[in-house]
Amino acid sequence: MRQFSEENLTEAVVARLKDMKNPRFKQIMASAIKHLHAFAREVELTEEEWFEGIKFLTAVGQKCDDKRQEFILLSDILGLSMMIVALNHKTVPGATEATVLGPFFAHGAKEYGHGADLREGATLKGEDVYVSGRVLSLDGKPLANAVLDIWQAKADGIYDVQTEGEFELRGRVKANAKGEYAFKSYKPKFYSVPVDGPVGDLIRATGNHHMRPAHMHAIVSAPGYQPVITHVFVEGDPYLDGDAVFAVKDSLIGRYTKVNDAAEAGKLGMPDPFLKLEWDFRLAPDAGVKARKVIAPSDAVA
Ligand code: BEZ
Ligand code: FE
Repeated sequence: MRQFSEENLTEAVVARLKDMKNPRFKQIMASAIKHLHAFAREVELTEEEWFEGIKFLTAVGQKCDDKRQEFILLSDILGLSMMIVALNHKTVPGATEATVLGPFFAHGAKEYGHGADLREGATLKGEDVYVSGRVLSLDGKPLANAVLDIWQAKADGIYDVQTEGEFELRGRVKANAKGEYAFKSYKPKFYSVPVDGPVGDLIRATGNHHMRPAHMHAIVSAPGYQPVITHVFVEGDPYLDGDAVFAVKDSLIGRYTKVNDAAEAGKLGMPDPFLKLEWDFRLAPDAGVKARKVIAPSDAVA
């Protein structure tokens, strides 16, 4: 066939995939083509609009480098990242819920033991917080030597990896033999997703805000268990109901309580007063489930 119309073009394009060797790739391509064509038909896309889209995607690509991942940000604000999490990480009842990874994970963070001070070398101060808890199986068994990859934004709402310099408020914290972990940090604050690129222009065009409620990130793993990529949000944050990337889950909201106790502060090596967050993570058994991929921006340009 050589003469294509609005009616038969989609079918013809999909037919060209017939010799694709990888059936899953073929399925994805066929579906993407059908949905793209249906989208163009539904909105009766003009050439000018199509070219605006091409310019936008070009700008998104040009904004990416080994530190900045504008495509992940685009996926996040369109809710696609959370849709993929929802499809692939259905929470096993009782397990800590998964949420978005975001674009600021980095490989190679420093390793710490119980009681780690993630404020080490911090360039900005915040409200001191002592975070502690346990990593448990679903039936409450402590998971000895679990590892918690922790990262959060600085007090100015910027992540260490967004600027030159050393890692800050980031570390791999090992739990002890009783599955207990503890570290010192600053209370997270709400912040804006990066809006100095094309995704920022898109958010502004929608009239929505570009804020994320305060949170710390955690990837928690233990041998024989499914690792979880998650957050702990801050109770009372004004953006919990409007997260720019749709990542909030009720089960992931933690309470920061004020401790006015000089003896306890002294014992923990904290100033008096300080904040405390007690938070347990619960992991489901591995059961052959494929681990979620942990992608740093540098992985995507390699
Ligand atoms: C983050 O939580 O670090 C994040 C997630 C999605 C977009 C931007 C930032
Ligand atoms: Fe974040």
